[in-house]
Amino acid sequence: MRRKIVAGNWKMNLTFQQARELALRLNTWVKAHKPIAEIIVAPPHLYLEQINKDLRNSTITVASQNVSAMPNGAFTGDVSAEQLLSIGTKISIVGHSERRAYHYEQDKYIGKKITHLYEHGMSPILCVGEKLEDREQGKHFDVVEEQVTIALERQDPENLKKNLIVAYEPVWAIGTGKTATPDQAQEMHAFIRKTIGNQHGLSVANRTTILYGGSVNAGNARDLFEQYDIDGALVGGASLNLDDFTTIISARK
Ligand code: PGA
Repeated sequence: MRRKIVAGNWKMNLTFQQARELALRLNTWVKAHKPIAEIIVAPPHLYLEQINKDLRNSTITVASQNVSAMPNGAFTGDVSAEQLLSIGTKISIVGHSERRAYHYEQDKYIGKKITHLYEHGMSPILCVGEKLEDREQGKHFDVVEEQVTIALERQDPENLKKNLIVAYEPVWAIGTGKTATPDQAQEMHAFIRKTIGNQHGLSVANRTTILYGGSVNAGNARDLFEQYDIDGALVGGASLNLDDFTTIISARK
């Protein structure tokens, strides 16, 4: 089922104390305001266990920012799906453009991460999005189609049907203050849904939750959420500020 989700990607920000405080203040707000949107926060790995405990009685879901493509073994510094699950984490972002850019992650490898998550009954948030030069050269649809198709090609359609979240995050809009216009975002979201439909059938496509990410803020969220194929947002910078993040959450009607 398409879900209304607002997710906060905290990236490599906040000390342990600051992260706990933000999570607790957000939880207090959620209890008081009972928003329509489901809320996800993705703190650094190091804090997942404690924040999971802090939010134990909360409706907020705690996600990981990344997961290994390997099941276990000699992979120094990596964290596996099984390990994440063992501390109560059930969702992971995969294929974020910062992982693609700084850690050279590629679509097939990202697909393996998704497979491991599904093997453990967990959910992926698959990030895709073109670079500025791709858009300028008119290649943005081809680039995103390839990212989606390769990452999902070996997945079991039953898993996809139950549990697939995609985030369209144009690289040129991430952390730049430059958001895609609602029309540009809608056009790509509809294209992603069509691509998934061509590959796995309409029953998967119509159940896929597609989030927009890239400089979402308190001022632009509402217009984005009015678009038919935009189910919610993956928010970076603005998720670190409680007022901004809760304004975005409230905009998801
Ligand atoms: P931003 O980041 O909201 O700071 O642009 C979004 C993301 O990278 O998920």
